[in-house]
Amino acid sequence: MTTASTEVLLLGAAGNSGQLIAAELAARGVPVRLAGRRRGPLDDLARALAAGGAPAGVRVVDMSDAASLAEAISGTGVVLSTVGPFARLAGPVIDACLAAGVSYVDIANEWPAVRALLDRDEQARAHAVTLVTGAGFGPAATETLVLRLVERTAGTPERVRVAAAAGVARQSDGVRQTIQESLPEGAITYRDGQLVREPLGSGATTVTFGGTKRQMLPGPVADLEAARLASGAPDVVAYIAGPAARAAGTDSFTWAEVTGPDGRAITAELRTGEGVRATAAIAAEVTRRVLAGAKPGAWTAGQLLGAGLVTDAIAAQVTVHERRP
Ligand SMILES: NC(=O)c1ccc[n+]([C@@H]2O[C@H](COP(=O)([O-])OP(=O)(O)OC[C@H]3O[C@@H](n4cnc5c(N)ncnc54)[C@H](OP(=O)(O)O)[C@@H]3O)[C@@H](O)[C@H]2O)c1
Repeated sequence: MTTASTEVLLLGAAGNSGQLIAAELAARGVPVRLAGRRRGPLDDLARALAAGGAPAGVRVVDMSDAASLAEAISGTGVVLSTVGPFARLAGPVIDACLAAGVSYVDIANEWPAVRALLDRDEQARAHAVTLVTGAGFGPAATETLVLRLVERTAGTPERVRVAAAAGVARQSDGVRQTIQESLPEGAITYRDGQLVREPLGSGATTVTFGGTKRQMLPGPVADLEAARLASGAPDVVAYIAGPAARAAGTDSFTWAEVTGPDGRAITAELRTGEGVRATAAIAAEVTRRVLAGAKPGAWTAGQLLGAGLVTDAIAAQVTVHERRP
């Protein structure tokens, strides 16, 4: 689909991820309309962008007000939402995008939010709109590894495990609220192709990646769904850092293990640098590509744009290890 407008509506632009995304969009020459509830921080950001040679519009919008949201979306080419928890807040934004015929990208990493967006594939096609979820460090940085490992596996993998450890400079209210609302979902995994729910802490293990042995827990993150879709494996686990393994420092790492039908496992790792910066670059790159024209439907970032997206966006390197069972 070729969208008529070239302007992106960035929801939550003055937030922690929003500010970095605005800079990444500006660096890619993408015109942006900065949106949020409070004018002051949006004006400050617009001034900073203009000083760097990238003028941006400002729009005060409260997403909980459907009329204000519809008005802000009108005339834009893509809406990029950074306002979470997405499981609770994304639905009305997606509704408004479908109604306006405008494509949508978000940085959700909550399993229920990502699953809910993917379930709208038929609606998206009917409206000739592209919906992309998970366009951030989580789940795109494990998804790229699974896509690469699957290419090296003969036949459908029998098991996939992925793990992410994000190091961030600052934890925002938006992230805190999102973690608080999503952890009660518990340990979600796929076993024999069925979704299994267990209390958080079930299936805890240690995984060594990024040179560190880490205590990890199966968690309710979108990496689970992205790994399942990328591999078709019946058994899938996505690990988050356990309390004893919360990252020190601001470097971020992901790991994936794909076990083929012959029992042979291959693993891969990725180092991305600061997690929110990686998210900003990935989200901006996805948005730029959707704005340029993308297939209608509901997608994860890797499903739509392939294994090369993340390394194109952040110039990171993937390391692959093969071992015999
Ligand atoms: N996928 C990933 O790897 C990844 C990485 C980073 C963050 N995230 C997720 O992204 C979300 C945002 O994180 P963040 O760190 O950017 O949070 P943040 O710093 O708290 O920013 C959220 C922004 O949303 C705006 N906002 C909140 N409610 C709004 C509403 N009803 N209407 C319009 N704007 C509203 C806020 O601005 P006002 O208060 O001025 O309206 C604020 O600027 C969280 O869910 C987080 O978990 C995902």
